[in-house]
Parts: sequence; structure tokens; C-alpha cells
Amino acid sequence: MKKYKVAILSGDGIGPEIMKEAIKVLKTIEMISGVTFELEEADFGANAYFKLGHSFPEKTKYICINSDAILKGPVGLSYEETKKIPIEHQPERGAILPLRNFLNTYANIRPVYLSKYLSEFSPLKNEIIQDGIDFIIVRELLGGLYFGEKTLGINENGKRYVKETLEYDEDQIKQILIVAFKIAMKRKKVLHHIHKSNVLKSSVLWNEIIEELAEQYPEVEIKYQLVDSTATFLCLNPSMFDVMVMENMFGDILSDQGGGILGSLGLMPSACLGDKVSYYEPSHGSAPDIAGQNIANPYSMIGSVAMMLEYSFGMVKESRSIWDAIQKVLIDGFCTQDLFNLNENTTLVSTDVFGDKVVSILLDNK
Ligand code: IPM
Ligand code: MN
Repeated sequence: MKKYKVAILSGDGIGPEIMKEAIKVLKTIEMISGVTFELEEADFGANAYFKLGHSFPEKTKYICINSDAILKGPVGLSYEETKKIPIEHQPERGAILPLRNFLNTYANIRPVYLSKYLSEFSPLKNEIIQDGIDFIIVRELLGGLYFGEKTLGINENGKRYVKETLEYDEDQIKQILIVAFKIAMKRKKVLHHIHKSNVLKSSVLWNEIIEELAEQYPEVEIKYQLVDSTATFLCLNPSMFDVMVMENMFGDILSDQGGGILGSLGLMPSACLGDKVSYYEPSHGSAPDIAGQNIANPYSMIGSVAMMLEYSFGMVKESRSIWDAIQKVLIDGFCTQDLFNLNENTTLVSTDVFGDKVVSILLDNK
């Protein structure tokens, strides 16, 4: 019987309560599939800093690297609380970026997906959405401005000065493009490269490498779209995209726009894949203002379980059943407060009731 070790990084704010629902769903899959998941909790984020003096403690590193996959909740506290943490230990610089580096998770996969039955969640008009929304953002996660050399100081004219560098080498570009080509092969075989080659040399190199790699994927049609016009077309005609690949910063910005198109970042789970252990997380933040009230939306955290089953364990059927179940809860008219105002015909449910509904759909359909 198969057995997988899963590290659980519940994180801050609403993290623990949405993670509880994700674990409930994982336990249900365990029952249905017969696969065992051995869970190990580890401290991560702002709470870890206050408890242990480190937002990404050594013990957490050990647990992560010795697991088969990692489920990670959102991290970060309120602005006031975060200010109490030295800047290098704050969750973004002290935990998330080091986690990505440590695990070499260079590929961030963000599915922007909404069933046509839920189109009223989207701020876009029905004529634009038609058959729902369904595209995937493949974002490079370990390069570009995020990880380039940074200087902040005074220049020779005595002026305050900052320099941040955008660097990529061809291997880094190739490895993310290969991930994107493979995903495109499993879908509509159309791949958009989002770039800014009219200004940036880095985009020129990306375009060059994508052309070279294209020879290995002759079935995939490659399209080139400038990043600024992509922002426009995501609003005017999102269905022109199926798989989009782009460098780190472009992907950060456009994936949040993807959340906006869905109506909420609360509807976007994500996967961070690498050559060691991959981790899975909701794309949204830790919403400290509503933490502990049992009102947060666990959709993305539960969706992250679906992505883990598919990408780390090859459990495609079970993954699909979770996606179907989280969508069905919403289609049946149940949703948490964040989405409540977006649809008139809904019944408000709490975080744990949402999780219970997902579980009962999974059990009914097993
Ligand atoms: C994301 C987040 C992170 C990023 C932050 C929290 C470092 O915005 O995962 O998109 O910018 O990558
Ligand atoms: Mn972001």
C-alpha cells in the first residue's frame, strides 16, 4: 500500500483554520483511495519567528526536505505585528523566498479556473466569459528581480540610490519553459510566452530559447504576447489564453490579475514545483483581520491538496474529484463570506461547513 509523507506548514492568520479543512479532505482521500498520508506539522512564518526566533527554522527545513510533498498555508501578520519582526526575518524575505530557494521550486503553476456555472463570481461580463474561465499561468519562481543582486545606498552624487538586477541564465529559462511545454502538450497545445522584448534584453533571450526548444515540441503552437497588452486581453478576452509562461515578476503581477478575473484570489490554489520536494499553497494571503472567526474561505487551500495529488503523487482521478467537489459546493449555492456578496442566490457557510460539504460530495461520488 502506498504511503506518502506530507509536511504541514499551517502558517499565520487564517492558515491553521483553512489547513484544518484541507487535512479533512486529505483524510477523506486516504479513506477512498487506500493511499496513506503521514502528516508532520512544522513551524513557518511570523508565528514561527515569535515562538522560535526564526520564520523558517532549521527543524522545518529538515521536515520539508524529508517529506514527499508540502502543504503550506499563507503566512504574514498585520502591518503592525510585522513591523515588530526584523526585516530579514519577515515572512516574505525570511521564510517564503528562502523556502523556494531551499527546495529549488523554480516552477509556479497557477490555474485560473472557474466553471461556467460560477461565472457570476467573475467581474467580467457573461458575453466575455461564455464557457467559464480556464487557463494556467506558469511562472518562473527563482530568478529575475526577486533574486538578483540588490544595492541600496548613496551614489557618488550623494543621492539615495537603489539598484536591483534582473538575471537569468539559459538553463534557468529552459527548465521553466520545458515545464510549460509539457503542460501545454496535455492541454490545447497552445503556449503563450508573455514578454517585453521591445524593451528588455531578458525577454529577447527568453524568446530566443523558446524558439530553440520549440523544435522539440512541434505540436505546440507558440504565441508571443507583450506583458502590458496581456493585462488588457486578460480582461477583454481571457479565453484566448490556455497556457501562459513568463518570468517571475510578470507572473507575480498577472497571476493576481487572474485572481481578480475569477472574482477572488480565494479561488486560486497553486503549486511550486522543483527537482526536490514540491510545495502547494493558496495564492492568497493570511488575512489576519478575519483569523480565528471560522469565516475564511478554504477553497484554495483544499484546491492545493488537489494540485498536490496530481503533481506530486500522480493521483489524477482523486485530484479531479476534489476540484469537482469544491466547485460543486459553490454551484450548489454555498459560499463563505468573501464570495457571498458576489452572488445573490447563495447560502453563507463557515470555513468548517464548507470543508464538510466538500467531504460529503467526495464520499457520495466515490
Ligand atoms: C506570491 C506572493 C509572493 C511573491 C510574496 C509573498 C513573496 O505574492 O506568491 O505571489 O511575490 O512571490
Ligand atoms: Mn503575488
